[in-house]
Amino acid sequence: MRSMQSKNLHFEPLTAAHADDLLPILTTPSVLAFIDPTGTPPTLEELRAEYAARASGPVNLVTPAEQWFNMAIYLKADCSKAIGRLEATRYGEWGEVAYLLGEAWWGKGLAFEAMLWWHDYLNAIVPGTQWWATVHPANQRSIRLLTRLQYEELDSSRRPKLQSYDLGDRCFAHSAHVEEYPA
Ligand SMILES: CC(C)(COP(=O)(O)OP(=O)(O)OC[C@H]1O[C@@H](n2cnc3c(N)ncnc32)[C@H](O)[C@@H]1OP(=O)(O)O)[C@@H](O)C(=O)NCCC(=O)NCCS
Repeated sequence: MRSMQSKNLHFEPLTAAHADDLLPILTTPSVLAFIDPTGTPPTLEELRAEYAARASGPVNLVTPAEQWFNMAIYLKADCSKAIGRLEATRYGEWGEVAYLLGEAWWGKGLAFEAMLWWHDYLNAIVPGTQWWATVHPANQRSIRLLTRLQYEELDSSRRPKLQSYDLGDRCFAHSAHVEEYPA
């Protein structure tokens, strides 16, 4: 059984019950700016439905090997509400990660701590997967985080078919061994 905690944080598989805590975070302008700048924020009902679907696994498979992993993040010092979430979608040899923390908890190294734990966790469950992340070029916090996590920036022509890629995004891969993928 994997430990579901790091030094300051503990983690719970994401369910519909986390939507109430995460909706105010998701709808903060500074968070929305980088994850969905043009979209309409979800309603609570939509977010509950999305998290319920995430908890039950992929519905529309991009590949037969697609796997979803989602966690809510809690501060050990205050377990009353979730402060963020971690995501990973695996398509076989590679996958995509994403992360989100409420603005009140930025600048404390907590996303870094959560992502170190996430890589350990994923590595135990689906070892050997190469993890990718796409970032809006203005999202300097996220770029600094990926760099600190030893992600390597790659020309987007070398990316696999990343579902989270939007035109202009910067692409990062986690691993010393970076392979070529058809675009
Ligand atoms: C991206 C995001 C998770 C980064 O959060 P963050 O708190 O800046 O990231 P970290 O946990 O790495 O913290 C780094 C900061 O904490 C500081 N820090 C304090 N104590 C630290 C410690 N013990 N260890 C590491 N950093 C520490 C660092 O100096 C750094 O501050 P700086 O950026 O002002 O230099 C956050 O901005 C976010 O949720 N954004 C909205 C959603 C989003 O953009 N997601 C990513 C889409 S690609």
